[in-house]
Amino acid sequence: MQLAPSILSADFINLQRDVSALEAGGADLLHVDVMDGHFVPNLAFGPQVVQALRPITKLPLDVHLMMSHPEAYIDMFAAAGADTIMVHFESTPHIYHALQLIAQRHVKPGVVINPGTPVDALKSVLPLVGQVLIMTVNPGFGGQAFLPSTLEKVAHLDQIRQTDATLTFDIEVDGGINDQTIQQAAKAGADIFVAGSYIFGGHSVAEQITKLKGLIK
Ligand code: DX5
Ligand code: ZN
Repeated sequence: MQLAPSILSADFINLQRDVSALEAGGADLLHVDVMDGHFVPNLAFGPQVVQALRPITKLPLDVHLMMSHPEAYIDMFAAAGADTIMVHFESTPHIYHALQLIAQRHVKPGVVINPGTPVDALKSVLPLVGQVLIMTVNPGFGGQAFLPSTLEKVAHLDQIRQTDATLTFDIEVDGGINDQTIQQAAKAGADIFVAGSYIFGGHSVAEQITKLKGLIK
């Protein structure tokens, strides 16, 4: 079980301070949301932010690309220091190729599905990925309510993984994860939990991390 705080809810003027607090507070990964204003109706971060983060933290950088034509930007994010690059299944007709490109750059490839996309659509790319991210809200904004209908997709994916020993991916969930929802996601089979507004919405990030981790031990 790993916790991946999303810096989308951080204080951007004090990003270094917030990242240090996350690392000291027990975060396992740092989740970086990239939005292009086209695939999703919001804008956030680019490779320059990943590059700026790289020297200030030892945490793996978990880069979530919410953008059209992601293939064109994989090199940039790999060079910037991403440890994982995740592309949306819905964002390109060439998902297989996009995942191959990520692996060629010696970065862990991940595939992401929106709430409306079934797990079965991923069958032919599962052997290529180290992570599958199941969106538990519609992508684009922090602070949205968790969609309970996504839990059966987590369970279905976990079942697929258990029946095929050649598949080695982790299951990540992203959106609306808090002290009310994290246990349901864990029970369904998720291994990595992204959380933004919950982590930054309390007294201190360390306290919020401790609370969430206490629920999924
Ligand atoms: C949403 C992003 C999330 C976001 C989660 O499109 O992918 O990573 O930061 O925020 P919360 O935890 O507030 O739902
Ligand atoms: Zn995300």
